[in-house]
Amino acid sequence: MNLDIVILAAGKGTRMQSSKPKVMQEFIGQPFLESVVNTARELNPNKIIPIIGYKADEIKNYFLNEKLDFVIQQEQLGTGHAVIQAIKEITSQFTLILYGDVPLINKELLLKLTDASKKTGIGLVTFDKSNPVGFGRIVRDENKQKIIKIVEEKDCNNEQKNITEINTGIMCVESNHLKKWLTKLDNNNAQKEYYLTDIIEFANKDNVDIVGIKADTETSIQGINSMEELILLERMYMQEKAAQLIKQGVKIIDPNRIDIRGSLTCEENVTIDVGCIFEGNVYIKKNTKIGPYNIIKASEIGENTNLNAFNHIDDALIGDNCTIGPYARIRPETTLKNNINIGNFVELKKSNVDDHSKINHLSYIGDTQIGKDVNIGAGTITCNYDGANKHQTVIEDNVFIGSDTQLIAPVIIKKGATIGAGSTITEDAPENKLTLSRVEQKNIDNWIRPKKK
Ligand code: UD1
Ligand code: CA
Repeated sequence: MNLDIVILAAGKGTRMQSSKPKVMQEFIGQPFLESVVNTARELNPNKIIPIIGYKADEIKNYFLNEKLDFVIQQEQLGTGHAVIQAIKEITSQFTLILYGDVPLINKELLLKLTDASKKTGIGLVTFDKSNPVGFGRIVRDENKQKIIKIVEEKDCNNEQKNITEINTGIMCVESNHLKKWLTKLDNNNAQKEYYLTDIIEFANKDNVDIVGIKADTETSIQGINSMEELILLERMYMQEKAAQLIKQGVKIIDPNRIDIRGSLTCEENVTIDVGCIFEGNVYIKKNTKIGPYNIIKASEIGENTNLNAFNHIDDALIGDNCTIGPYARIRPETTLKNNINIGNFVELKKSNVDDHSKINHLSYIGDTQIGKDVNIGAGTITCNYDGANKHQTVIEDNVFIGSDTQLIAPVIIKKGATIGAGSTITEDAPENKLTLSRVEQKNIDNWIRPKKK
């Protein structure tokens, strides 16, 4: 479709109780307006025209690297007045009007709207709301067919107040019609505003049929006016995502205590305990258990793996049959193959660990390649940083590293080597030998332990 998209975003959002413009408030980690702009992009419009006013510079600055045709509305005199400011920018055959404070608007609904609008010249998204207070009401003819007009709450008579079909504000109009109808708007109404919704009556006068598309989920058309509404909508969104996964057979122990901030995909027979947070794209393979309070970002977890409680996993690939944590931190660019144990208070960064290796307690492993069947003792530290540069550690197959060892990188521990506990290793360790650097033990005879005076 030959389309321009206008996004209404000039309001301050007084009820947010914040000095930030409302559309810059974050919904699951990104400003509302950014979510709307991203959805708008999916429709491949010729132009995206956000109408901004309050703290316009702050908004423009944030979107510096995006191709957007901002228009300023100095004074907020109503939704119609806002769109009038964009008339000069609108050059495509159709105009889609979105709200900057409706972050969950989605492509599927908008495609339905634009498709339907093409046929007559104007379409709008409505919703059946059991408590319609505060919204514009959709007035239809006697047969409840044709849309006649939209009446704002404050202009409703008692009969109109009972109408439960509301205006979501989202509409698509042939641009020539839109421009013509906008010039006819006035502010003779209860709020002394230029109502965009008045164009519906003008469409009727011009015998242009108005198509109503009913949104089937409230979240998709829900605007946010206060922090309360913001938090509620976020929670509803999380619950929707959790419900979808549960439908697919994922056992989410408590759907009220999970945060899915990106996309989470699970194979069969996955269990997720309470308090987990998923960010970015996370993929979990079959028969895997995610214990309580895991934070997992942009990672893949293999089959039959068990994450104990309280791990932090970011940009990592974890294989099959692994056991992780509790309290492990797995940092970006880490790959664990299969049958690996990572225990408590172990930090891994930019490292690869091969099959059947174990790092069970209190270690830092960074910039390291670990082979198969390696055992890393408690308190082992790879000293990968000299204050200026990072260096690699290589630990080959079948190595045993004794506890409390420091490996000063760059260094290679060859196949089958054993490192004695408490060593500081500065040079490569040869294959199949015991290597240790340790001051010999002294025993002091006749020593007397100090006594308290
Ligand atoms: C509007 C609709 C109402 C609908 C409701 C859905 C009109 C007259 N009314 O009402 O039928 O049920 O949305 O939420 O259109 N804005 C500007 N400039 C302005 C005025 C508003 O940019 O001068 C922006 C706001 O920042 C907001 C959006 O337009 O993002 C909607 O404005 P709002 O004041 O919330 O509209 P309502 O009066 O609630
Ligand atoms: Ca509103």
